[in-house]
Amino acid sequence: MLIAQITDLHVVEPGARLLGEIDTNACLARCVARLQGLQPQPDLMLITGDLVNDGTPAQYTHLRALLAPLAMPLYVLPGNHDSRAPLRNAFSDHTRLPTGEDGPFLHHVVEAGPLRVIMLDTVVAGETGGRLCPERLAWLDARLSEAPHRPTLIAMHHPPFVTGIPFMDRIGLDGAEDFAALIARFPNVERITCGHVHRPVQARVGGTVAGICPSTAHQIYLTFDNGQPDAWVGEPPAFQLHLWHEAAGLLTHTVMVEERPAGRLD
Ligand SMILES: [Fe+2]
Repeated sequence: MLIAQITDLHVVEPGARLLGEIDTNACLARCVARLQGLQPQPDLMLITGDLVNDGTPAQYTHLRALLAPLAMPLYVLPGNHDSRAPLRNAFSDHTRLPTGEDGPFLHHVVEAGPLRVIMLDTVVAGETGGRLCPERLAWLDARLSEAPHRPTLIAMHHPPFVTGIPFMDRIGLDGAEDFAALIARFPNVERITCGHVHRPVQARVGGTVAGICPSTAHQIYLTFDNGQPDAWVGEPPAFQLHLWHEAAGLLTHTVMVEERPAGRLD
């Protein structure tokens, strides 16, 4: 089982650029081409939020057009830049996505061969930070309790740990301590994978490994200085591949979108 993850695409209207300068649409097109060239092809792909930048129907329409070349099944979660209703409308063919009648959140579960993937919605409409309220934690507890021995990957937009980057930690996740206490009860949680921070960071959460996937577009400027204003940086766009290995468990590789020269070592 090979799972691709892309995150923080920040797609804008055709011809537009994010902040007037970042061509996020072209970045996604390059990432899609890179994914198409992978051998073997991933069995499925997770997209962990900030699919578009402003949550408008037009941006979701363009997102679907940019993703159209990919043949693998896609599973999507909202980020703080998304809007749930237009997102759900744009992916109305995705029968696993809950409808409005199932409650306000876009949680769902993906059975991926030997692995179970829990897509956990951390978004608070109108806010930049995320939240795991008692209702969401109860949903997660119920899903984990259904299959306490099955290797499980939890995907979410907001990471459940601080990164040390002050301007990102100020827009972090409420409820992370309760989440960690819940995860600690389920040693079958193989990995937690997130977006939001636009750079690769790893931490231990509830006794398991949690990580952040870089963005397909711009990355977040790396600083540990509390006085540093919010800033982006043109570090290389990347995505992740999560490979299920029968003996080792889940192995996560960060892959740069741009291909560089390659040759034999011998
Ligand atoms: Fe983002």
